[in-house]
Amino acid sequence: MSTNPPRTFSVAPMMDWTDRHCRAFHRVLSARALLYTEMVTANAVIFGDRDRLLGYSPQEHPIALQLGGSDPEALAKAAAICADWGYDEINLNVGCPSDRVQGGNFGACLMRDPALVASCVAAMKAEVALPVTVKCRLGVDEQDPEEALDALADSVLAAGADGLIVHARKAWLQGLSPKENRDIPPLDYDRVYRLKARLPGAPISLNGGLTTLETAQAQLAHVDGVMLGRAAYQQPELLLRVDSLFFGEADGHADAFAAVEAFEPYIAAHLAAGGRLHDITRHMLGLFPGRPGARAYRRHLAIEGVKPEAGLDVLRIAVNEVRRAEERRSLVA
Ligand SMILES: Cc1cc2nc3c(=O)[nH]c(=O)nc-3n(C[C@H](O)[C@H](O)[C@H](O)COP(=O)(O)O)c2cc1C
Repeated sequence: MSTNPPRTFSVAPMMDWTDRHCRAFHRVLSARALLYTEMVTANAVIFGDRDRLLGYSPQEHPIALQLGGSDPEALAKAAAICADWGYDEINLNVGCPSDRVQGGNFGACLMRDPALVASCVAAMKAEVALPVTVKCRLGVDEQDPEEALDALADSVLAAGADGLIVHARKAWLQGLSPKENRDIPPLDYDRVYRLKARLPGAPISLNGGLTTLETAQAQLAHVDGVMLGRAAYQQPELLLRVDSLFFGEADGHADAFAAVEAFEPYIAAHLAAGGRLHDITRHMLGLFPGRPGARAYRRHLAIEGVKPEAGLDVLRIAVNEVRRAEERRSLVA
């Protein structure tokens, strides 16, 4: 049986972004952050190509797999398969507003059916010894967030959920794209704080709009954990200080240069297995933000890194653009 991974700081599940290579990269930057997979539907886990959907590298632990679905039996079956694959947590998606997901009657529209979500959680808990958590919104459409969030939280916690991650805004299921649904409905952190105050014993994490470690850390006065999505992906360097700030442990690397060097063996192994450099470096474009040479770094990766034969030297040359620009600047200063 796995232990409950600490959710003090986590990186959000993000489709197309938090694939295994992204997670391996984030793991080099922080040894302790809990990393979430992209959402995988229960049926994909049951019927799909498991190596592709569920495969990961051992160094990615602790790692939570996010499932999408609303059929308790299928979710239980999928959860059992994921437990066998060694994941540390199963998370249920009750926050995605996309049409495809709504069409399958899962994701955010489940905010309207707390009893069904509770059945899903209970079915998974009956099948696996792993922690099962739920990632949800404050509500959808015309729902009153006071009632909708309480109803969902009470139901899933009564069903045995081991934690709740709340994306602190509603989702509008009609008229907004998934991207707009991550920005337009206003954030309401106070609503999440009130949930935690009402349920002090329940592990509650807050997600949405956190862009710095300092603002994220301030949330810990109100909730048990924070989850960062876009900021972690777009400015991955902020993960370099997570271990010290959130877990009281030494950070693994002094800077992004050291982290990239430490990541080289992983990249080399991927290339040796026939993979492409771009599979990995596409997740590294946000390194060195605002620094001299950062644009040249990104340009080199964008032009040379996408070529099928691109090797580690392409990454090294790109990183050297930043090093050289910094050296030039320090000579001038
Ligand atoms: C590209 C992208 C893909 C996403 N895919 C998922 C997903 O698969 N499952 C999920 O629960 N949330 C998904 N989200 C939402 C994030 O997990 C998170 O809730 C949202 O971005 C708000 O957090 P942030 O402001 O820190 O980015 C996605 C977000 C982005 C930007």
